[in-house]
Amino acid sequence: MKETLLKIKQEAFSMLEKDDLNIEEVRIKYLGKKGELTSVLRMMGQLSAEERPIMGQLANQVRNEIEEKIAQLTEVQKAKELEKSLVSERLDVTAPGNVRKIGKLHPLTQVQRKMEDIFIGMGFSIAEGPEVEYDYYNFQALNIPQNHPARDTQDTFYITENILLRSQTSPVQARVMEKTQPPIRIISPGRVYRSDEVDGSHSPLFHQLEGLVVDKGITMGNLRGMLETFAKTMFGEKTRIRFRPHHFPFTEPSAEVDVSCFVCGGKGCRLCKGEGWIEILGAGMVHPNVLRTCGIDPEVYSGFAFGMGIERITMCQYGIDDMRLLYENNIKFLEQF
Ligand code: DAH
Repeated sequence: MKETLLKIKQEAFSMLEKDDLNIEEVRIKYLGKKGELTSVLRMMGQLSAEERPIMGQLANQVRNEIEEKIAQLTEVQKAKELEKSLVSERLDVTAPGNVRKIGKLHPLTQVQRKMEDIFIGMGFSIAEGPEVEYDYYNFQALNIPQNHPARDTQDTFYITENILLRSQTSPVQARVMEKTQPPIRIISPGRVYRSDEVDGSHSPLFHQLEGLVVDKGITMGNLRGMLETFAKTMFGEKTRIRFRPHHFPFTEPSAEVDVSCFVCGGKGCRLCKGEGWIEILGAGMVHPNVLRTCGIDPEVYSGFAFGMGIERITMCQYGIDDMRLLYENNIKFLEQF
């Protein structure tokens, strides 16, 4: 029996030394319920009274040694596995992340939204009109009959003789007045078209923002006050405005409106070309002919209107000196806004 026990021990140990070691397999083979050592122990009963304690002691010793070796190897194996998972699952928290590029609004849209916010704050609502427009709304209803010289500066693209791409946002005035009796207080931003050659300050497609107020007792004073509030909010508290007499067929009297240069404050600089003033819009009192044509009685109501170029205001605000930059979709340019 002694030989058997020593042989078991030897075998178990040599198995535990193998490269492709499966500890659990060894444990079951020698120490398990049906294991080799267990079956030797079962035979203890057959031994003599003198032999039994000696063999019992030896058997226990062998079992302890195998158990100890197994425990030791299990520890080693666990450590190895931990090491392996630490390496394979390593996470470098200092590695630069994947920055996701988030788009943003085009500078023209940003400026348009800012303008809208200012006018909405003054009680205006937003009206929309079609870009493909009737000659009637774009010109005739605005006191610009066929062959009127004012059409020269607003040559546009014609779909038919009577349908064109609107050359200004002013037709929305006529459309709104036709449908609504005063009080009217609307702005209308949108695209307009002209058959202009592309250069640093012209584009066949650009954007305007139109404004219209009609009610009883509306005066040029109201126009001026409202535009001053707009200019101060848009360009800064110190901004002043000035009216210069002008002519538009759909307003009488008409004015071109300048703001004091918000870069130099009026002293003269590169942006205002030494003028101290920057022209930003056209405005005036709605012509009685226009009111009448659109079904509003000029004896009862009066109104003012204004229109400005969104590109122009965007370019002034950001010091952009070439309009083409706004349409080229160059990311390096657009990222700056
Ligand atoms: N529609 C004019 C243009 O495109 C701008 C304008 C001037 C609009 C005076 C108005 C206004 O409403 O009253 O040049």
